[in-house]
Amino acid sequence: IRRDLPHPHRRVPLLGDITHLDRYRPIQNEVALAASLGPIFERRVLGLHFIYVAGARLATQCLDEQHWARSLYGPVLEFQRFMPDSLFVVDSDNPLWGQARRILTPAFAQKAMRSYHRAMQSVADDLVAEWSAGDGVIDTHSAMTRAAGEVIGRAGFTRDLGLFHDAPDSADSQAFIDSLGDLLRMASDAGLALPIIGPLRRRILEPSVRRNVEVIHSFADRIIAERKAHPTDDEDLLNLMLTAIDPETGRRLPSDNVREQVLTFMAGGYETTAALLESVLHYIAADQELQERLRTEVLARGGFDYHAVTGMRLIRHTLNECLRLWPPAPGYFRRARTDQDLGGYRIPAGQMVFVLALAAQRGKDVWGPDADIFDPSRFEPDRLRSHPDRFFEPWGTGPRSCIGRQFALHEATLLIARILSAFELSTDGTPLIMRERGTLRPEPYQLKVILRSNR
Ligand code: HEM
Repeated sequence: IRRDLPHPHRRVPLLGDITHLDRYRPIQNEVALAASLGPIFERRVLGLHFIYVAGARLATQCLDEQHWARSLYGPVLEFQRFMPDSLFVVDSDNPLWGQARRILTPAFAQKAMRSYHRAMQSVADDLVAEWSAGDGVIDTHSAMTRAAGEVIGRAGFTRDLGLFHDAPDSADSQAFIDSLGDLLRMASDAGLALPIIGPLRRRILEPSVRRNVEVIHSFADRIIAERKAHPTDDEDLLNLMLTAIDPETGRRLPSDNVREQVLTFMAGGYETTAALLESVLHYIAADQELQERLRTEVLARGGFDYHAVTGMRLIRHTLNECLRLWPPAPGYFRRARTDQDLGGYRIPAGQMVFVLALAAQRGKDVWGPDADIFDPSRFEPDRLRSHPDRFFEPWGTGPRSCIGRQFALHEATLLIARILSAFELSTDGTPLIMRERGTLRPEPYQLKVILRSNR
């Protein structure tokens, strides 16, 4: 087995592979590097050692739970500063993880999805009303952030956050969303920072981190306190968090843990889903033929009830193709449980690697020579069967994979369907450029919408 991994060509004494670093688009930068360095390579910078896995077949190998495990590192680890015991960041061997996962899993089963459908519809109503009353130029970033945030509020906590109209919560909700956004950005910066510079930046940013943490904690505390003061029999996430009993331990979630879970679902739910919605809207607006095909499917379903939405296959394929080309979570850290041979290189037990899903999901060896081209039809069952080795893991893998997957897909399908049935979409031709803040998300762009006359 070879030992020396490929690395960027100019290695600077003491500093290491410091050239070719990109602070603003680090993951897209590593993906570009993979084109010349191959399916696995390393970067050593100031004593840090990162191994990147970009090839689809090697990435698949790293997802094998028997030999590899999820590793908490980088931005994910930074979240521990403001939600240390939440489902998202707690270690898998901490009993709190299993307990929370078992308690909250029913909240994402099909039955629960049916009950969230009404809340999701109400957000779609507000979105369509807002766009109908506007001047036809949409700030997509703001609209999708508010839509995804409001869906979690109304479906998960049976609470109108007031992000679409004046409500008692409006100002606090917007402050909450802004603070959470700032914290995600800071976590992403700090999680990928270099020695010396990183700690220095962290110290400078500390007061603003503290302020933002205060805002999000007090918002979550108020939601919980008000529910406790006025209990309901809603089958929402919040009631499960407060009252459900873990079938395995017979215990409820510790009361000081509920705040962290509320924050997890707000954080996990809005940023990623908004990123997906924004990229899919961009592709649809830029391709009138695709737009018409999707609209025909939507109109043929004859409505937007739960059943109609789950049958919108073309929209699902389009969402999947966006998730393949631009996964909002562009990669994940994995740790070898035992010594591994990865593409002919020895990876010792305990070594961590970063699986570049963004690169592996575009692997020409598994998806074919047109892997970089946007083509939703590749998700049609017949065509999928012709790529048995495909790599498509935008939801992560194994026991720690995304609990909110069906929720996000149902929400995105419904919102896109409602938008297509009400509006003709176009863009001013701005290309899709992705920025990185923990997630991979389009740079803000404007969408042009015209109300359809025969909707
Ligand atoms: C975990 C992606 C939407 C809640 C994850 C992971 C990925 C992911 C890749 C695993 C991360 C890792 O291994 O480090 C996405 C994408 C979404 C989305 C692409 C939308 C397009 C949602 C929604 C919710 C949610 C809507 C909640 C309503 C969570 C939670 C975890 C998680 C709680 C942690 C699960 C655990 O550790 O047991 N998500 N997610 N996500 N996601 Fe999502």
